[in-house]
Amino acid sequence: MDPWWSWGAMALLCLLVPGGHPVPCRVSISPEEPTVEFGTSLLLNCTSSCRNYSRLSWEVSITKTGTRGPGWVSLSIPNVTDWSLELQCFGIFGEHRDIATTTLHAYRFSPPQIYLEGDAVAGKEARVTCNASAQVSPPDPPNLRLTLRGGGLPPSTRRGPSVGLGFTAQPEQHGQEMTCEAVLRLGRRTVNASATVTLWVW
Ligand SMILES: *[C@@H]1O[C@H](CO)[C@@H](O)[C@H](O)[C@H]1NC(C)=O
Ligand SMILES: *[C@@H]1O[C@H](CO)[C@@H](O)[C@H](O)[C@H]1NC(C)=O
Ligand SMILES: *[C@@H]1O[C@H](CO)[C@@H](O)[C@H](O)[C@H]1NC(C)=O
Ligand SMILES: *[C@@H]1O[C@H](CO)[C@@H](O)[C@H](O)[C@H]1NC(C)=O
Ligand SMILES: *[C@@H]1O[C@H](CO)[C@@H](O)[C@H](O)[C@H]1NC(C)=O
Repeated sequence: MDPWWSWGAMALLCLLVPGGHPVPCRVSISPEEPTVEFGTSLLLNCTSSCRNYSRLSWEVSITKTGTRGPGWVSLSIPNVTDWSLELQCFGIFGEHRDIATTTLHAYRFSPPQIYLEGDAVAGKEARVTCNASAQVSPPDPPNLRLTLRGGGLPPSTRRGPSVGLGFTAQPEQHGQEMTCEAVLRLGRRTVNASATVTLWVW
């Protein structure tokens, strides 16, 4: 049959059927932008806006495991070992087919470590260093920012993976804390962690 004719006929039918919605049936994936830590598990859900599908299924390059119920089918990934994975879910509604697509992104994040380099002697130059590590799906470099604050010094923010701050050690800094906060931006999500060191000034 001529596809234009069948589309036209279906559109006309939708308009003529009393109470019929001309809104096409849709499938959607949740979460919309899945982002998980490498090596962890994830549960995705694909839902259909209509119940009259003949098929509702995932199209993925990994082993499909999950459950289904009326209007939905889940996909369980027990161990995410791809930095980036294309996921598709489709629904077949008579002649109409709808496809939802998303990309799963994995990341790795090691909390920061902060330390005072050597001994801080009053009146002498001292240095605090903080580093953290992050990995995201290639080719993008991780959007990692490190902020050092405390010790009576102005806060300093740099792009990671390492940030250092040199200053002249003051006796009153003895016993004060310095904190390093690492913030990794992953699209709409952020992951953060911090570490603290106590200044010891001789
Ligand atoms: C996930 O897979 C990796 C690599 O195959 C393996 O080293 C790790 O132990 C697995 N983790 C879990 C929780 O199964
Ligand atoms: C998937 O979504 C449907 C509709 O929101 C919900 O009823 C169902 O429990 C969800 N399934 C899983 C496994 O979360
Ligand atoms: C499925 O139901 C929707 C409304 O819920 C309707 O618009 C659509 O025409 C129906 N499709 C089929 C193939 O029955
Ligand atoms: C921070 O740097 C130290 C010394 O270079 C290193 O041993 C440590 O593994 C690094 N930590 C992270 C999270 O990269
Ligand atoms: C992460 O960020 C939130 C919001 O800015 C903040 O309240 C929280 O203390 C931070 N967590 C760590 C471990 O730094």
